[in-house]
Amino acid sequence: KRAVTAATLQRARLRDEKTVWLTAYDAVSARIAEDAGCDVLLVGDSLGMTCLGLDSTIPVTLDQMIHHTAAVVRGRRHAWVVCDLPFGTYQQSPEQAFASSVRVLQQSGCDAVKIEGGTHIAPTIAFLAERGIAVVAHIGLTPQSVKKFGSYGKRGKSESERAALLQDAKAVSEAGAICMVVENIPADLTAEISAMVEIPVIGIGAGPACHGQVLVFHDLLGISATNPPFAPAYSDLRSMMSAAISRWASDVKSGVFPQ
Ligand code: KIV
Ligand code: NA
Repeated sequence: KRAVTAATLQRARLRDEKTVWLTAYDAVSARIAEDAGCDVLLVGDSLGMTCLGLDSTIPVTLDQMIHHTAAVVRGRRHAWVVCDLPFGTYQQSPEQAFASSVRVLQQSGCDAVKIEGGTHIAPTIAFLAERGIAVVAHIGLTPQSVKKFGSYGKRGKSESERAALLQDAKAVSEAGAICMVVENIPADLTAEISAMVEIPVIGIGAGPACHGQVLVFHDLLGISATNPPFAPAYSDLRSMMSAAISRWASDVKSGVFPQ
């Protein structure tokens, strides 16, 4: 199988083929996801919650992202690996974003960086893209701004928010993003965005009118304690893990293990 690249994603869009994105945080899950047919592995800053026991993405550091992304890169063979730049490592200036991107790309070996934001971050996307960096944009619900919005609720419900999100989509696309993630926005707004921009639109909680879908590994597999309403669990791994461990624990206590 050929390596997935930025060009692969654009070609898939032109052929009307959906691309499949899943988050990954370590080498084992990266390999499992890739073998199961994922095209893109996103090392999301959601790792703060899924792996590090944090209650938001705000405290996640660049060093933590690099540590996990390097593991994912070691586990993949042909998937495209995207690393989220965490809060505070790109918002200050295009130069700060460039320095953070260089660290991530050189120290983890990943293929692209993802940054949150629309119109206001578009000049930063252009600055990175002009310097040869593959940038994935992320608009709609942007979890690094949770303290400002006060919730992880749906975005783009009012007319003014809709208009702002259309502007955001246009701005990040024109700035040179390779593709964009749209999170937790109404399906009809996603359809408008997908028809308007020329780059692939990857949805999460954004309806079917996308060129690909992304989910959080732990939500998809049923490992998370709770799932967002837009992320159905396709398995119940949490209870399977628990059952195996508790069966072994009782075998240890009763002396059945080891033989
Ligand atoms: O951090 C993350 O997992 C993400 C996806 C939900 C898009 O940004
Ligand atoms: Na993220």
